[in-house]
Amino acid sequence: MRIVSGMRPTGKLHIGHFFGAVKNWVDLQKKHETLFFVADWHALTTSYKDISKIKENTLEMVADWIAMGLDPNKSILFIQSKVKYHAELNLILGMITPKSWLELNPTYKDTKYNLLKINHIEKEYSEKIAPLLDILVKNAPANIEDEASFKKILQESLTDTFIKLLIEGIIDKEKLGELNISKRDFYETDTFGFFGYPVLMASDILMYNADGVPVGEDQLPHIEITREVARRFNHLYKEFFKEPKAVLTETPKLLGTDGRKMSKSYNNTIMIDETEEETTSKIMKMFTDPEKLRKNDPGHPDKCNVFSYHKIFTDKEASTDIENNCKSGKLGCVECKKILAKNLNTFLVPIRERRSTINQNTVKDVLEEGTKKANAVAKENMDAINSILGL
Ligand code: TRP
Repeated sequence: MRIVSGMRPTGKLHIGHFFGAVKNWVDLQKKHETLFFVADWHALTTSYKDISKIKENTLEMVADWIAMGLDPNKSILFIQSKVKYHAELNLILGMITPKSWLELNPTYKDTKYNLLKINHIEKEYSEKIAPLLDILVKNAPANIEDEASFKKILQESLTDTFIKLLIEGIIDKEKLGELNISKRDFYETDTFGFFGYPVLMASDILMYNADGVPVGEDQLPHIEITREVARRFNHLYKEFFKEPKAVLTETPKLLGTDGRKMSKSYNNTIMIDETEEETTSKIMKMFTDPEKLRKNDPGHPDKCNVFSYHKIFTDKEASTDIENNCKSGKLGCVECKKILAKNLNTFLVPIRERRSTINQNTVKDVLEEGTKKANAVAKENMDAINSILGL
């Protein structure tokens, strides 16, 4: 099987990236032909304004890939923008992709929604509707005891609805100026490139006629579009593309140290390149079962984020002991976290050691080599595609 996947250049990686994606890649490279790339063009679709870190982030991220076990002798590692055939195929596939497939894509709507919120439509709109909220409170059918909460919930849901309507095109964009909402904010996320995100992604995958694409669940709609595009091409011209399948990770979800999704922006990550002391201190600050206040209180491991980490980093037998001793009140949270910190660090030691031996030049060499190989495969397919089209 041929496996292809990509990751946007987000810089240094954390253990969430490992368990959410890279671990799967490392496993797949043992049995399959694998190509993994830095999706730097995809990074531009949403962050075209902030390009200062693309290069640095690319090198840091690939160094972490290698430290986590991606082997340049087994996998082809390359940079998307260095294989220009992706752009050529993107152009071709764009010709046959109906706009409606992209408009209906839930990931597109979600991302756009989040970006619009980030771009302060939320704030401007909130100010605009503040007086209205007072009227609504006054005219509420019953006496509102907590006016502040009432207003907050109303405000959030109205803003939410407003942004959704905007995205659906139900609100006239030309009127945004009158509403004192910056039209620029809207157009910032309303670009041709962002709209075409799934077509570029389909090109990345179909470029290599991949059989499998390891991705997170959030990417499933994109894989579906890729399959539809492949089918459409085959139907219109000639049976050429395989319909690639998504390969989902089996690892249980690893949340951030605060119980939310692990993300640098939440400051709740365990980074690959941090020190043992930093990791230990983060673990010791994690929240545990809120009902277990004293050591002897019986705990609920199934509701405890620390225990969900044990399930990954502590061996089965020890983890069962921890579960039982937590429930019976024999094991306190401090002790439990100490054990976790030790095991997590043991897990990270080899990765950190490897990371410290990888410098930027090594990474550049790996990428150069990988880019050559990827280009060779891509060229062959692109020649065949152009010949099918008579170009
Ligand atoms: N969209 C993917 C993400 O954000 C990254 C990506 C780009 C990708 N092209 C791809 C993943 C091709 C798999 C295959 O995670």
